[in-house]
Order: sequence, then structure tokens, then C-alpha cells
Amino acid sequence: MNWDNSILSKITFDHISNIEEKQKVANKISEKVKDGDVIGFGSGTTSYLTAIAIAKKVQKEKIKITAIPTSYEIKILCSNLEIPTASLLEKKPDWSFDGADEVDNNNWLIKGRGAAMFKEKMNIANSPITYILIDKSKKVDKLCKNYKIPVEVYPEALNYVKSELLKIGASDITIRKAINKDGPIITENGNIILDIKFANITNNTEKQIKSLVGVIESGLFIGYNVEIVE
Ligand code: 5RP
Repeated sequence: MNWDNSILSKITFDHISNIEEKQKVANKISEKVKDGDVIGFGSGTTSYLTAIAIAKKVQKEKIKITAIPTSYEIKILCSNLEIPTASLLEKKPDWSFDGADEVDNNNWLIKGRGAAMFKEKMNIANSPITYILIDKSKKVDKLCKNYKIPVEVYPEALNYVKSELLKIGASDITIRKAINKDGPIITENGNIILDIKFANITNNTEKQIKSLVGVIESGLFIGYNVEIVE
């Protein structure tokens, strides 16, 4: 028996910035899809447009793929688009795609505006290559120009993590508040997000943040196998 799942199709973005540029890279990446591919699907508006472009190609060419989604938002979208999904327990991605909030000249990234960076980083770490799909607004000379680094923290560890972050050079630490809910954003993993700034990000900063007890993951991506597509 099938569900009347019309409510699921209501999960879309109200507004997509720089939509023409995002649609162009979405279409470009959809051309890479081959029959049988296991593909890591990122989150955010660029990934949303890319998932739709891929679904069109899959339907047109009658090929089969499996998606490994990085959030409920994208998992539900895959269900609407009739793209089968799996987790990293069952499948390893042949390749992945995702968006980014900032990209510097070393291809270091800040991600996690959508609070999905934990699973996004797992897909990227598990993929031989990840295409990071950006529009021009994402390129920066120095990270933390327009976005802070999100840090997902186990709730009881908030005070400890905040004090340790200050010791390693973080500043301007805020708790990410929810919209349409009182209090903080709760991630899909039941945690809270601190947004932080760093004046000087080195190739050790991601490891320093991750080493703090109570930190689940950060949105700083240094030295991953990524190719920037714009
Ligand atoms: C979500 C992300 C997104 O990939 C990032 O925020 C870019 O989003 P968009 O494609 O909407 O600009 O990291 O956690």
C-alpha cells in the first residue's frame, strides 16, 4: 500500500539566492551521473536543485542510482523524486556533491548554514571525490569573512566547549537560535550549534576544534578530496 505523501512535497525552499548560477552547476553535475552510481547528496539550496536535475536525468535515461542523503530535508526530497536512498552502513559513495558557505584559495571550506555538517563531512570523508558546487558569492580570500564556523556540541558540554574554544583562539561565540521554535536549533543528532569566529585559521584548526570533549563536528573542512565547480 502506498502513502498519500503529498505533505512531503511541501518541503521546499521559499527563496533561493543566485538561483541561475546554482541551476547551471546543478545541471553540469547531473551530466556526470551514470547507471549504478552511489552518490552522496549534500544539503542546502544548491544540493536541492542538483537532486532535482539528477532525478530528471535518471527518469529520462531510465537508469538507476542510490543516494546517500545528508539530512532529512534531502532524504524526503529523494523520496518525492523516487530516488532510492541508503546509509553509509550499507553503501560507499562513488562520488558526492554538496554546497558550501565559503571557499578559500586552498579549497578549505566553511559549511553548515543548514546545520547538516556532521553527515556532510561523513559523506565527504567517505567519497573518493566530492564536487563542491558554488556561485561566486561563496569565494573568499579568508574564511570567516561572511560566515562563522558552526560547531555541533553535545548539549551538556556547552559551557566546557565554549571555554576551551576561547583558549584555542575562537571569538564571537553565539548559540544558533531556532526559527519557528523557541530556544536553540536542535540538530538532527539532538545537539546544539555554537557559531564561532577565528581570526587565524591554520591547517590544524579543524583538528583542534574536533579534539574538544563534547564536540560532535565542526563546519570547517580542511584538506578533503574536493573539486570546486562553479
Ligand atoms: C548545509 C550546507 C550547505 O551546503 C551550505 O550552507 C550551502 O548552502 P546553499 O547551497 O543553500 O547556498 O553546508 O549544512
